[in-house]
Amino acid sequence: MENLDLNRLPKHIAIIMDGNGRWAQEKGQDRLYGHFHGVQSVRNIVEAASEIGIKYLTLYAFSTENWDRPAAEVAGLMSLFVDTISKEVPDLHKNNIKLHFIGNLSLLPDDAKLALEQATQTTSKNTGLELIIALSYSSRWELIQAIKNIAEMVHLGTLAPADIKEATLEAALSTSAFPDPELMIRTSGEYRISNFLLYQLAYAELYFTETRWPDFRKKDLIEALLDFQSRERRFGKTSVQIHTND
Ligand code: IPE
Ligand code: IPE
Ligand code: MG
Repeated sequence: MENLDLNRLPKHIAIIMDGNGRWAQEKGQDRLYGHFHGVQSVRNIVEAASEIGIKYLTLYAFSTENWDRPAAEVAGLMSLFVDTISKEVPDLHKNNIKLHFIGNLSLLPDDAKLALEQATQTTSKNTGLELIIALSYSSRWELIQAIKNIAEMVHLGTLAPADIKEATLEAALSTSAFPDPELMIRTSGEYRISNFLLYQLAYAELYFTETRWPDFRKKDLIEALLDFQSRERRFGKTSVQIHTND
């Protein structure tokens, strides 16, 4: 922690929380046991991010494609979400954390929808860490929604196709209120994006670790941050330009 440069922290970290199922199976347990233990990591990382002074944290909790998992696993995950959100909101609220949910929430069961709405409402005035949970989320789904909205504006005559810019698309995404993540972490030794924030990660630094999500803790987050701080972010320029502010 003392090696971290607090002036060079990413404002926004995005995490693909992967490896719960394998973590459980390696212990001879059911996959749901892994999801259950993953909640402990969420608690630990949210607290750590808040302490370190990260402003935005996006956690990929359930993808659109995850709906195709066995029915028992999907049902188990849904009840875990409802349970966890309801139990954690008082502490999150006390810690000044503001919750957001992104994804195709219309697909969620009613009790989950209600829990999310209440959690968002309760924490809406908080000014600390903004915690964004991607739930029933996929980036292609999000992009299609955005394109539909833009097409509608063109159709209504309120937007000319020639005026469509990056900002137009960004404003139509479910992440319009947040800056792009500078750091994306994926646990469990998988090296892919799995339909997560495809547009928003354009210039993110990618960090992969073998650690399974249920074992991921504050020290692992700090390691990822130290790695991030060792990188040179060039945004297409040359190294010399970066060093001379040219
Ligand atoms: C991530 O862990 C959690 C969800 C996708 C809901 P996995 O369930 O994908 O675990 P592995 O990758 O099968 O080990
Ligand atoms: C990505 O993990 C989704 C979440 C972590 C919520 P998956 O385990 O579903 O991704 P793939 O199938 O290995 O690409
Ligand atoms: Mg997985």
